[in-house]
Amino acid sequence: MPPSGNSSRSRSRGTDSVDDITSGAPGSGFPVLEEGQSPVLEITYRVSMLILNKTAGVFSKPSKRKVYEFLRSFNIYPGTLFLHKLVLGIETSCDDTAAAVVDETGNVLGEAMHSQTEVHLKTGGIIPPVAQQLHRENIQRIVQEALSVSRISPSELSAIATTIKPGLALSLGVGLSFSLQLVDQLKKPFIPIHHMEAHALTIRLTNKVEFPFLVLLISGGHCLLALVRGVSDFLLLGKSLDIAPGDMLDKVARRLSLIRHPECSTMSGGKAIEHLAKQGNRFHFDIKPPMQRAKNCDFSFSGLQHVIDKTIMQKEKEEGIEKGQILSSAADIAAAVQHTTACHLAKRTHRAILFCKQRNLLSQSNAVLVVSGGVASNLYIRKALEIVTNATQCTLLCPPPRLCTDNGIMIAWNGIERLRAGLGILHNIEGVRYEPKCPLGVDISKEVGEAAIKVPRLKMKI
Ligand code: KG4
Ligand code: ZN
Repeated sequence: MPPSGNSSRSRSRGTDSVDDITSGAPGSGFPVLEEGQSPVLEITYRVSMLILNKTAGVFSKPSKRKVYEFLRSFNIYPGTLFLHKLVLGIETSCDDTAAAVVDETGNVLGEAMHSQTEVHLKTGGIIPPVAQQLHRENIQRIVQEALSVSRISPSELSAIATTIKPGLALSLGVGLSFSLQLVDQLKKPFIPIHHMEAHALTIRLTNKVEFPFLVLLISGGHCLLALVRGVSDFLLLGKSLDIAPGDMLDKVARRLSLIRHPECSTMSGGKAIEHLAKQGNRFHFDIKPPMQRAKNCDFSFSGLQHVIDKTIMQKEKEEGIEKGQILSSAADIAAAVQHTTACHLAKRTHRAILFCKQRNLLSQSNAVLVVSGGVASNLYIRKALEIVTNATQCTLLCPPPRLCTDNGIMIAWNGIERLRAGLGILHNIEGVRYEPKCPLGVDISKEVGEAAIKVPRLKMKI
């Protein structure tokens, strides 16, 4: 979630191909280059004119627009010379209404997003009917914005991809019913998207990463470790047995009343904890990481949350302040909870790497760990994971922060990945339903636990 609160943004990423597409024929939505802009285009244009003139009875006097339409039918695209597949991605699984258009090569033609963070911060958490109403109010505008920033007409889309699982039922429903109407109107294929699959594959948009790779997804709603063997081929190694780390950090931030802190009032809970932790001393509180004896890759954060709750209560007594006021030790508590969270995530991830290497599921010399989800934008946690990847000769990769949190780009990119792989492209949308709960891949977490791999101690000097 961007720190800007309940706000909207739209942008076109300045990719060469997008910047090159300058002036569209008015109202057509088609990008058209000036004649003579480049010798290659000039020749292409003139050859097309010739071919068109020779195509008896098709066009009497071909306009530039007709020429370009003709070119595009042969995959020749003015400005890029090739017409790539284009996917519109729509995301409404939680509290962000987001849309984007992405092409086959990973160029983001345009995106738009409306974040509900500010509203939910005020109510102390997401109230599903409120989220639903805000999605309803914004979805049409956001999709329209993403398309217009992209300077494409909807008819040029190859498919529409939308998150249908997992997530808040009421939120998923808004995105799905809007998308199905659009699919019906435009007669385009529909690609249903698993939100976590999209988070996991985002790295392939920004980096050249081959399958298989390991992924740690950590956000407000999810916490899992999986081996990604293909676009829709996942082995689940471990997951949170209770709440997700982002949820825990949000609860701690709320309990510390960080919304009243002048420096944190517009930040999500996790971001506020990271910000405040920089001013604190983690050694003032000794909070043990959970599940130290369980030799698996599962996680747990609710015990940690209760321990911190108790600590806060005790400190409030000591400092003689009421619940709702900010403790003088808030920064120290933030530093301690962040450190314990980082250690817990690092330990389980370390075991997952060792398990995968032991079973030859990952390359011995060139293994990649991808970390994504809102919590992955935390630099302290990234450093802890870097200690693990350095010790195991792995490469740590994280998408840029704005692609770690929920966005439309990852959904559109997942659509492109599925189009390329020919997986899950629906031409008939009858019976498509959203699924609030949906596991990712094949769960082998029991097998991981049975392997009982002992993880060597690492010094977490961050
Ligand atoms: O991926 P995301 O946007 O939404 C889902 O939960 O799917 O993640 C949002 C979560 C929130 O819990 C937020 O507190 C957390 O990510 N978060 C952070 C940071 N920024 C956002 N947690 C720790 N450090 C951060 N810098
Ligand atoms: Zn997410």
